[in-house]
Amino acid sequence: MALTDITIRRPDPSDALAIAVIDAEGMATGHATFRDTPHDWGSFKASFMTGRGLALIAEDGGAVAAWAGVSPTSIRTVYQGVGEVSIYVSATQQGRGLGRRLLENLVLASESAGYWTLVAQIFPENGASLSLHTALGFSIVGTRRKLGKMIHGPLEGRWRDVVMLERRSEVID
Ligand SMILES: CC(C)(COP(=O)(O)OP(=O)(O)OC[C@H]1O[C@@H](n2cnc3c(N)ncnc32)[C@H](O)[C@@H]1OP(=O)(O)O)[C@@H](O)C(=O)NCCC(=O)NCCS
Repeated sequence: MALTDITIRRPDPSDALAIAVIDAEGMATGHATFRDTPHDWGSFKASFMTGRGLALIAEDGGAVAAWAGVSPTSIRTVYQGVGEVSIYVSATQQGRGLGRRLLENLVLASESAGYWTLVAQIFPENGASLSLHTALGFSIVGTRRKLGKMIHGPLEGRWRDVVMLERRSEVID
Protein backbone atom coordinates (compact mmCIF):
# COMPACT_ATOMS: atom_id res chain seq x y z
CA MET A 1 0.00 0.00 0.00
CA ALA A 2 1.36 3.44 -0.92
CA LEU A 3 2.38 5.92 1.76
CA THR A 4 -0.34 8.49 1.12
CA ASP A 5 -1.53 9.59 4.54
CA ILE A 6 1.63 9.77 6.65
CA THR A 7 2.16 12.40 9.31
CA ILE A 8 5.53 12.77 11.03
CA ARG A 9 5.37 14.54 14.37
CA ARG A 10 6.82 14.72 17.88
CA PRO A 11 5.39 12.16 20.30
CA ASP A 12 3.29 13.07 23.32
CA PRO A 13 2.18 11.00 26.35
CA SER A 14 -0.97 9.82 24.54
CA ASP A 15 1.35 7.84 22.20
CA ALA A 16 2.90 5.84 25.05
CA LEU A 17 0.88 2.64 24.54
CA ALA A 18 1.39 2.55 20.77
CA ILE A 19 5.13 3.13 21.23
CA ALA A 20 5.32 0.28 23.75
CA VAL A 21 3.38 -2.12 21.48
CA ILE A 22 5.59 -1.36 18.46
CA ASP A 23 8.69 -1.67 20.66
CA ALA A 24 7.50 -5.07 21.98
CA GLU A 25 6.90 -6.32 18.43
CA GLY A 26 10.48 -5.46 17.47
CA MET A 27 11.80 -7.01 20.66
CA ALA A 28 9.92 -10.25 19.98
CA THR A 29 11.87 -10.79 16.75
CA GLY A 30 15.01 -11.34 18.82
CA HIS A 31 16.95 -9.22 16.32
CA ALA A 32 16.08 -5.66 17.31
CA THR A 33 17.62 -5.00 20.71
CA PHE A 34 19.27 -6.42 23.83
CA ARG A 35 16.52 -4.74 25.88
CA ASP A 36 13.92 -7.08 27.36
CA THR A 37 11.38 -4.50 28.51
CA PRO A 38 9.44 -2.22 26.16
CA HIS A 39 9.68 1.50 26.72
CA ASP A 40 7.03 3.03 28.93
CA TRP A 41 6.56 6.79 28.70
CA GLY A 42 9.11 7.41 31.47
CA SER A 43 11.92 5.43 29.85
CA PHE A 44 11.05 6.70 26.36
CA LYS A 45 11.16 10.29 27.59
CA ALA A 46 14.42 9.71 29.46
CA SER A 47 16.02 8.11 26.40
CA PHE A 48 14.78 10.38 23.61
CA MET A 49 13.08 13.49 24.94
CA THR A 50 15.36 14.75 27.69
CA GLY A 51 18.24 17.13 27.20
CA ARG A 52 19.50 16.78 23.62
CA GLY A 53 17.31 13.73 22.89
CA LEU A 54 15.10 13.72 19.83
CA ALA A 55 12.01 11.64 19.00
CA LEU A 56 9.59 11.35 16.09
CA ILE A 57 6.62 9.17 15.35
CA ALA A 58 4.93 8.35 12.05
CA GLU A 59 1.15 8.22 11.95
CA ASP A 60 -0.56 6.42 9.12
CA GLY A 61 -4.20 7.36 8.71
CA GLY A 62 -4.20 8.72 12.26
CA ALA A 63 -2.72 5.60 13.90
CA VAL A 64 0.83 5.47 15.23
CA ALA A 65 2.76 3.17 12.89
CA ALA A 66 6.40 3.78 13.84
CA TRP A 67 8.69 5.61 16.21
CA ALA A 68 12.30 6.70 16.04
CA GLY A 69 14.68 8.53 18.32
CA VAL A 70 18.18 9.83 18.86
CA SER A 71 19.90 9.56 22.25
CA PRO A 72 23.07 11.48 23.04
CA THR A 73 25.97 9.05 23.39
CA SER A 74 27.93 11.12 25.91
CA ILE A 75 27.56 14.06 28.28
CA ARG A 76 30.98 15.41 27.22
CA THR A 77 30.78 18.69 25.32
CA VAL A 78 33.13 17.51 22.59
CA TYR A 79 30.66 14.72 21.72
CA GLN A 80 27.51 16.82 21.98
CA GLY A 81 26.69 16.28 18.31
CA VAL A 82 26.93 12.50 18.45
CA GLY A 83 23.76 10.49 18.96
CA GLU A 84 22.54 6.91 18.68
CA VAL A 85 19.52 6.13 16.52
CA SER A 86 16.64 3.77 17.29
CA ILE A 87 13.81 3.00 14.87
CA TYR A 88 10.83 0.66 15.16
CA VAL A 89 8.05 0.16 12.62
CA SER A 90 4.84 -1.68 13.50
CA ALA A 91 5.03 -5.31 12.32
CA THR A 92 2.02 -4.88 10.02
CA GLN A 93 3.50 -1.77 8.38
CA GLN A 94 7.01 -2.96 7.57
CA GLY A 95 8.44 -3.16 4.07
CA ARG A 96 6.42 -0.33 2.53
CA GLY A 97 8.87 2.53 2.93
CA LEU A 98 7.72 3.85 6.29
CA GLY A 99 11.04 3.20 8.02
CA ARG A 100 12.84 5.01 5.25
CA ARG A 101 10.48 7.99 5.42
CA LEU A 102 10.82 8.24 9.19
CA LEU A 103 14.60 7.83 9.26
CA GLU A 104 14.98 10.48 6.53
CA ASN A 105 12.99 12.86 8.72
CA LEU A 106 14.96 11.91 11.80
CA VAL A 107 18.27 12.59 10.06
CA LEU A 108 17.05 16.04 8.95
CA ALA A 109 15.70 16.82 12.43
CA SER A 110 18.97 15.67 14.01
CA GLU A 111 20.97 17.97 11.76
CA SER A 112 18.66 20.87 12.62
CA ALA A 113 19.26 20.05 16.28
CA GLY A 114 23.03 20.15 15.75
CA TYR A 115 23.90 16.46 15.58
CA TRP A 116 26.85 15.84 13.27
CA THR A 117 27.26 12.08 13.71
CA LEU A 118 24.57 9.46 14.11
CA VAL A 119 25.53 5.97 15.15
CA ALA A 120 23.54 2.75 14.97
CA GLN A 121 24.20 -0.63 16.55
CA ILE A 122 22.52 -3.44 14.63
CA PHE A 123 22.58 -7.22 14.95
CA PRO A 124 24.09 -8.78 11.77
CA GLU A 125 20.92 -10.87 11.37
CA ASN A 126 18.77 -7.73 11.03
CA GLY A 127 18.98 -7.35 7.25
CA ALA A 128 16.10 -4.87 7.04
CA SER A 129 17.71 -2.48 9.49
CA LEU A 130 21.15 -2.79 7.86
CA SER A 131 19.59 -2.07 4.44
CA LEU A 132 17.61 0.87 5.76
CA HIS A 133 20.56 2.52 7.48
CA THR A 134 23.04 1.99 4.66
CA ALA A 135 20.48 3.32 2.16
CA LEU A 136 20.42 6.56 4.16
CA GLY A 137 24.15 7.13 4.28
CA PHE A 138 25.25 5.09 7.29
CA SER A 139 28.54 3.22 6.79
CA ILE A 140 29.65 0.08 8.55
CA VAL A 141 32.54 0.87 10.88
CA GLY A 142 33.03 -2.69 12.03
CA THR A 143 31.54 -5.60 13.91
CA ARG A 144 31.98 -6.07 17.65
CA ARG A 145 32.18 -9.79 18.39
CA LYS A 146 30.14 -11.43 21.14
CA LEU A 147 29.37 -8.01 22.60
CA GLY A 148 26.47 -9.04 24.81
CA LYS A 149 24.41 -12.06 25.78
CA MET A 150 20.69 -12.08 25.01
CA ILE A 151 18.48 -12.22 28.09
CA HIS A 152 15.20 -12.76 26.27
CA GLY A 153 13.53 -14.13 23.15
CA PRO A 154 14.39 -16.87 20.71
CA LEU A 155 18.15 -16.33 21.10
CA GLU A 156 18.19 -16.10 24.90
CA GLY A 157 21.54 -17.13 26.36
CA ARG A 158 23.44 -16.61 23.08
CA TRP A 159 26.33 -14.18 22.64
CA ARG A 160 25.55 -11.65 19.90
CA ASP A 161 27.77 -9.76 17.49
CA VAL A 162 26.80 -6.13 16.86
CA VAL A 163 27.48 -4.20 13.65
CA MET A 164 28.50 -0.60 14.33
CA LEU A 165 27.44 2.02 11.78
CA GLU A 166 27.81 5.76 11.59
CA ARG A 167 26.58 8.60 9.43
CA ARG A 168 28.61 11.82 9.35
CA SER A 169 26.52 14.84 8.36
CA GLU A 170 27.73 16.76 5.33
CA VAL A 171 25.79 19.89 6.29
CA ILE A 172 27.37 20.37 9.71
CA ASP A 173 31.02 21.29 9.41
C1 LIG B 1 14.19 -2.26 10.41
C2 LIG B 1 12.87 -1.53 10.16
C3 LIG B 1 12.85 -0.25 10.99
C4 LIG B 1 12.79 -1.18 8.67
O1 LIG B 1 11.61 -0.43 8.46
P1 LIG B 1 10.67 -0.71 7.17
O2 LIG B 1 9.59 0.27 7.16
O3 LIG B 1 10.28 -2.16 7.19
O4 LIG B 1 11.71 -0.47 5.98
P2 LIG B 1 11.41 0.19 4.55
O5 LIG B 1 10.20 -0.46 3.95
O6 LIG B 1 11.39 1.67 4.70
O7 LIG B 1 12.69 -0.26 3.75
C5 LIG B 1 13.92 0.40 3.94
C6 LIG B 1 14.99 -0.30 3.16
O8 LIG B 1 15.27 -1.59 3.71
C7 LIG B 1 15.05 -2.61 2.74
N1 LIG B 1 14.39 -3.72 3.42
C8 LIG B 1 13.18 -3.69 4.01
N2 LIG B 1 12.93 -4.90 4.56
C9 LIG B 1 13.99 -5.68 4.29
C10 LIG B 1 14.35 -7.01 4.60
N3 LIG B 1 13.52 -7.79 5.30
N4 LIG B 1 15.53 -7.47 4.19
C11 LIG B 1 16.39 -6.69 3.50
N5 LIG B 1 16.12 -5.41 3.18
C12 LIG B 1 14.94 -4.91 3.56
C13 LIG B 1 14.16 -2.00 1.70
O9 LIG B 1 14.37 -2.59 0.45
C14 LIG B 1 14.56 -0.56 1.72
O10 LIG B 1 15.71 -0.33 0.93
P3 LIG B 1 15.62 0.65 -0.34
O11 LIG B 1 14.94 1.92 0.16
O12 LIG B 1 17.02 0.85 -0.74
O13 LIG B 1 14.76 -0.10 -1.30
C15 LIG B 1 11.66 -2.44 10.49
O14 LIG B 1 11.81 -3.66 9.79
C16 LIG B 1 11.49 -2.74 11.97
O15 LIG B 1 10.92 -1.93 12.69
N6 LIG B 1 11.97 -3.91 12.45
C17 LIG B 1 11.76 -4.33 13.84
C18 LIG B 1 12.50 -3.42 14.81
C19 LIG B 1 13.95 -3.29 14.45
O16 LIG B 1 14.62 -4.27 14.11
N7 LIG B 1 14.45 -2.04 14.54
C20 LIG B 1 15.83 -1.74 14.23
C21 LIG B 1 16.70 -2.04 15.39
S1 LIG B 1 18.43 -1.82 14.97
